[in-house]
Amino acid sequence: MRIAMIGAGYVGLVSGACFAEFGVDVCIVDTDAGKIEALHAGRIPIYEPGLDRLVEENARDGRLTFTTDLKQAVRGADAVFLAVGTPTRRGDGHADLTYVFAAAEQVARAAEGPLVVVTKSTVPVGTGRKVKEIVRAARPDLEIEVASNPEFLREGNAIGDFMRPDRVVIGTESERALAVLRRLYRPLYLIETPVVATSIETAELIKYAANAFLAVKITFINQMADLCEKAGADVHDVARGMGLDGRIGRKFLHAGPGYGGSCFPKDTLALARTAQELGAPATIVEQTIAANEARKAQMAERVIAACGGSVEGKTIAVLGLTFKPETDDMRDAPSLVIVPALIAAGATVRAYDPQAGHARQVLPDTLHFAGSAMEAVKAADALVLITEWNEFRALAPKKLKSAMRGRVICDLRNVWDPAAMREAGFHYSSIGRP
Ligand code: UDX
Repeated sequence: MRIAMIGAGYVGLVSGACFAEFGVDVCIVDTDAGKIEALHAGRIPIYEPGLDRLVEENARDGRLTFTTDLKQAVRGADAVFLAVGTPTRRGDGHADLTYVFAAAEQVARAAEGPLVVVTKSTVPVGTGRKVKEIVRAARPDLEIEVASNPEFLREGNAIGDFMRPDRVVIGTESERALAVLRRLYRPLYLIETPVVATSIETAELIKYAANAFLAVKITFINQMADLCEKAGADVHDVARGMGLDGRIGRKFLHAGPGYGGSCFPKDTLALARTAQELGAPATIVEQTIAANEARKAQMAERVIAACGGSVEGKTIAVLGLTFKPETDDMRDAPSLVIVPALIAAGATVRAYDPQAGHARQVLPDTLHFAGSAMEAVKAADALVLITEWNEFRALAPKKLKSAMRGRVICDLRNVWDPAAMREAGFHYSSIGRP
């Protein structure tokens, strides 16, 4: 099998490399010549554990190639995946589909025979139909099928999610397109991965519904955490007690500073807009979006309150800036709200993140970057943990105490043991725990 993957972004690179690992010939296309040149030289533009090895091995074996030449990539391909960006459109919260439509048209013009054009980018329900109109208008002479095959990749765990998914969702309008996609995912039959074969509209909606549901679940437990604090209960045990009910499930019930990342904020917004337009408002999703936004700002207020009502002139150490561990992604990270708010309130903020590359570009210039966690906490009045990188879990209370000047710790991810922290003499606060 041969495929072309349009877009060498996060989804395109991971999916392309994984399909190559499945034994498919994959050509990844991007208009950014610098990116393609870097990939040829073995440099991966994103941080994702295991991706560098996968790209290197499959490129070496000739199954994975990179080009800026879309025509050449599309020629002879059995399927072409559209994995281009769908950013939030300014003003109305809709997903911007300019890149998807442009790519679909270019692919159709380049096609030389029957082809399946598969949308992998997350797109609002109804997009597949428009893609179909575009390709049919561009090439009425060819049999070009369209399909939807949404991804469910978590950053930091994307390769595992691709290789061992809970399910594969395939939306098609013909047996032929379905057969092509089933063949591409054949290695997953060995591990009995369920395939949900549906219409294109249904596949598109599954993706949004799944992400919105997870965002609601996180926001729900965050609100329960607030309630626990008022009621003197422990959210960790509430989540465990709830989650052991098989109907609820234990995953995605970790209270924290609010969800971020490239998917949940964007997808909830797009789903809410679509639902409004189609006259079936998803008010739960709308409330979730508002609650999550408010939560990030509340986290800064929480830190200021823990510091006695003012952070003016104080030095605050921040551990973790990315939206979650094992990624360098800063998109919609809670730190983007919390850090500037602390600086605006008069604090000097010194931060450490194991992957601070992008953080340096998007956080205020007045933020100081430390080279290690211990350097960040040195002589600090307070410590705030925003992202739960594993290396922070191991920081011993005694070590922190001897390095810091003050005694305030705000653990926004509940990684440390409250009893041990208090024993060490810290004013320790976490999320939803007494
Ligand atoms: C998510 C989906 O999981 C994935 O299926 C989809 O395709 C893309 O979006 P990702 O954004 O990479 O993946 O990260 P995820 O691990 O889902 O976390 C999203 C956000 O929710 C993070 O900010 C994380 O800190 C937060 N989160 C997650 C919580 O606050 N509590 C939880 O229990 C789980």
